[in-house]
Amino acid sequence: MFVILLGPPGAGKGTQARLLAESLGVPRISTGDLFREEMASGSALGRSVAAYMDAGQFVPDETTIALLQRRLRAADARDGHVLDGFPRTVRQAEELDRILARRGQHLDRVIDLNVDTEALVERLAGRSMCPSCQTTYHDRIAPPRRQGLCDRCGATLVRRVDDQPETVRTRLRMYHENTEPLITYYDEAGVLSIIDGGQPPEGVTRDMFAALGMTKGSF
Ligand code: AP5
Repeated sequence: MFVILLGPPGAGKGTQARLLAESLGVPRISTGDLFREEMASGSALGRSVAAYMDAGQFVPDETTIALLQRRLRAADARDGHVLDGFPRTVRQAEELDRILARRGQHLDRVIDLNVDTEALVERLAGRSMCPSCQTTYHDRIAPPRRQGLCDRCGATLVRRVDDQPETVRTRLRMYHENTEPLITYYDEAGVLSIIDGGQPPEGVTRDMFAALGMTKGSF
């Protein structure tokens, strides 16, 4: 199954994409995580994208599309994926359509997580994440069992540089100007489901699976 999770920064794409990918047995592909891995490794690509990421700006389309193409060529992504944070521009969406069409494949569904801006700002202000396995937490809503340590792998949790309030404002603006038009793009393609991402995580998961025609017994 080929699925995209769409939504503004902090909408819960990463949280839900992990659960969905595990249930479907396909990889979760997050361009944000791929870029952060490149930055952590100190590669030339990582150095070239750091300034964009830290400022909350988009990495240029050419760079992002090339990175995604490389990831989609891996064997585990041949028969399905959950994309988290890609596409973010109409150009990226058109390119993804072309990549899948060349392989005789197509998108099954795009899930848009709809959350109001006030809640997004609160979520990002309280977020911490594991630099090792990328699991995300929230100080109030989803705290780790042991303070400051990842439940999954025990690594010390960190705050993302781009979760500073001013940078969050830039990310939200980038989303409204460039990514929101994708809601119309995918609606016109007949593959869009909009769900309420403002409810507790379990409710979001339930609605997401329902939108994919999956019943409780199947996950
Ligand atoms: P990326 O890492 O993709 O960041 P993002 O899209 O801004 O999304 P976030 O990771 O901040 O939020 P999320 O929706 O995954 O929410 P989460 O589940 O963590 O991209 C970072 C940067 O990389 C971009 O700014 C750009 O520079 C670059 N980039 C990446 N892709 C690109 C592309 N395609 N083109 C160009 N540039 C690109 O949840 C957030 C918090 O809320 C957590 O604390 C969580 O515990 C909590 N939470 C989750 N669900 C709920 C719920 N239902 N109720 C209450 N709290 C919840």
